[in-house]
Amino acid sequence: MFMSCIRRKTVTGTLALSVFTAVLGSLQFGYNIGVINAPQKIIEQDYNATWVHRYGVPIPPGSLTSLWSLSVAIFSIGGMASSFCVGFVSEWLGRRKAMLVNNLFAFIGGGLMGMSKVCRSIEMMVLGRFIIGAYCGLASGLTPMYVGEIAPTSLRGALGTLHQLAIVTGILIAQVLGLEALLGSEDLWPVLLGVTVLPTVLQMVLLPFCPESPRFLYIVRCQERQAKHGLFRLTGRQDVGDILAEMKEEKRRMDMERKVSILELFRNHVYRQPIVIAILLQLSQQLSGINAIFYYSTSIFMKAGVQSPVYATIGAGVVNCAFTVVSLFLVERMGRRTLHMLGLAGMCVCAIVMTIALALSDSIPAFVSMLAIFGFVAFFEVGPGPIPWFFVAELFSQGPRPAAMAVAGFSNWTANFLVGMGFQYVADLCGPYVFLIFAVLLAFFLVFTFFRVPETRGKTFDQISANFGLELTTELENLNPPDFGGL
Ligand SMILES: *[C@@H]1O[C@H](CO)[C@@H](O)[C@H](O)[C@H]1NC(C)=O
Repeated sequence: MFMSCIRRKTVTGTLALSVFTAVLGSLQFGYNIGVINAPQKIIEQDYNATWVHRYGVPIPPGSLTSLWSLSVAIFSIGGMASSFCVGFVSEWLGRRKAMLVNNLFAFIGGGLMGMSKVCRSIEMMVLGRFIIGAYCGLASGLTPMYVGEIAPTSLRGALGTLHQLAIVTGILIAQVLGLEALLGSEDLWPVLLGVTVLPTVLQMVLLPFCPESPRFLYIVRCQERQAKHGLFRLTGRQDVGDILAEMKEEKRRMDMERKVSILELFRNHVYRQPIVIAILLQLSQQLSGINAIFYYSTSIFMKAGVQSPVYATIGAGVVNCAFTVVSLFLVERMGRRTLHMLGLAGMCVCAIVMTIALALSDSIPAFVSMLAIFGFVAFFEVGPGPIPWFFVAELFSQGPRPAAMAVAGFSNWTANFLVGMGFQYVADLCGPYVFLIFAVLLAFFLVFTFFRVPETRGKTFDQISANFGLELTTELENLNPPDFGGL
């Protein structure tokens, strides 16, 4: 679908290069989500060795769990902080320069993690994870923004999905490189964590050849000449009057609507219901437990008695990629609400099967829990992965949208942190029943979606807001739902 749809339209070299360069950021985002999964045991041993070296005694198991959970989860604190700054940074520096400057974070973060073993410093590892998290928070906002803005309208959806695809590809690459035979070994794990600077270098080399977003130049900076020049390069056409006219229309609409601050979003009763829905949808994505799988699947598979847990983790990565492609076909055909509920219900069932299989792992063969985990991941990519981000953009008009996106991003990263930090503890505490908690949460979100979430596909803003008793006049068709990807 994707390639044929690309071929019919003209994709210039500049456009292809710019999109490729931008999604290198998404690739790293995925990579850093997946990378700490496979080498957990090996890095924990090094933490222990560092502890012995410093204090002369082995690390207490409780401290080891804390330090490891912190190393995993502080990534989301970095993301939380920086995702809040996406709007400000992208307006201040421009989209392209913001991406360029953001690479500094990747250099410092990757460098710190890569050097932490040599320096025998757990602190460097934790700090590195924090900084690379900050990089990912910015990248997760800047990439879809830039790609959405430079893509011609007819290709916007197709090119936008490349962001999501790059994320899941990044997760898969991390899982493959994390094999003990490749970089997931005792000696090479610092390389595994540090290798994230390679796409950074590539992006820094390529970015100067990519044009700044003409939409940004024109609508935000009012630089018509520069915007035109960028359009010439991106479209390869001499006559860009129609695109310019369309941008003028967008600018007119934007100027008409007042910007709404985050505080107003909560104070004004008009926005209360949509913002509650936006937040709960983000929570349904993260509290579904998907990142428990992406951060910890190797140790889960180990407990389930799977023979080669690392390969099972890679299997989950492949399923993840495959179903991301499937969801591209589905999302514009079936309703968002239907798909979201289908995904939540499927995940809930898989979580229950997983619990039973883990609890009775002596009598139930390991492949049952493996299949349940694969199903869990597949259903995630059907609904709760991609859809919450579409939805936020669709629930709000131009004025409150930036504030709503910031609030949604913040909720998402916060929930991401809670799962990353808490999962290992809860898993130690509840044993095989840990996924029952996610099953209950999933059931709750399913009921909430059924009763509270409206269908937005193919509806105008008037119709959506009529649901909430709002009076808004902007039309839905002009929306460009930013796609931050399923995490
Ligand atoms: C830490 O290393 C020591 C040996 O130096 C070992 O006896 C101990 O079991 C290890 N602790 C953990 C939690 O792996």
